[in-house]
Amino acid sequence: MSIPVLTIDGPSGAGKGTVSRAVAKKLGWNYLDSGAIYRAVAIHALNKQCILEHGDVVAHYANKMDLSFECGDTLIVRLEGVDITAQLPTEEVGAVASQIAAHPEVRAVLLRKQQNFQQAPGLVADGRDMGTVVFAEADFKVFLTASAEERGLRRFKQLQEKGMEADLEKITQDIELRDRRDSERKNSPLIPADDALYLDSSDLSIDEVIARVLALVN
Ligand code: C5P
Repeated sequence: MSIPVLTIDGPSGAGKGTVSRAVAKKLGWNYLDSGAIYRAVAIHALNKQCILEHGDVVAHYANKMDLSFECGDTLIVRLEGVDITAQLPTEEVGAVASQIAAHPEVRAVLLRKQQNFQQAPGLVADGRDMGTVVFAEADFKVFLTASAEERGLRRFKQLQEKGMEADLEKITQDIELRDRRDSERKNSPLIPADDALYLDSSDLSIDEVIARVLALVN
């Protein structure tokens, strides 16, 4: 029997991370934050002073980068041995991640790295193309969204909680721009899989969303 996979795709700020982590914990499954991989590639490309428009060059560095995830109470991400956890959530890194994520060469390099996370007893995979491309054969698929205002507000609160500077209007604008780029790109655009459960979380509490996702798996 193959190892079960639950995919949770959707735009930024829809609550994918919080829901995926909670569901993975409840099920005792592994968790893949694919956005963190794209964000790490973005930081690596900036460190290497790559021209971001050159997909082949960014893909070359993405292929060779030494990236590790340490899963404890909190997730620690190391790039070339350096802890980059604190740099990952910023909207600046998100914007560069969205830029380099549009290159097919970069996506090809990251495909296998993401698929390697499918380990027993199961996997919850969060991203944009988990249910459509990376785990197209997944047993359970969710597309989680919310209004742009609500998503902007959630991202704003998240950054504030982390003690980072945040401007609500700018965050909402940045999120809308990033979503447009993610949805309109040719390769692996952000679209719901045909067989995904579509959940709009604008008027749902996080606990309600978690309960609906768990009901799907159980
Ligand atoms: O989910 P997160 O906001 O961390 O993702 C950052 C960016 O990485 C997204 O805006 C998107 O462009 C890219 N990404 C992607 N495919 C994924 C996960 C993230 O293209 N599966």
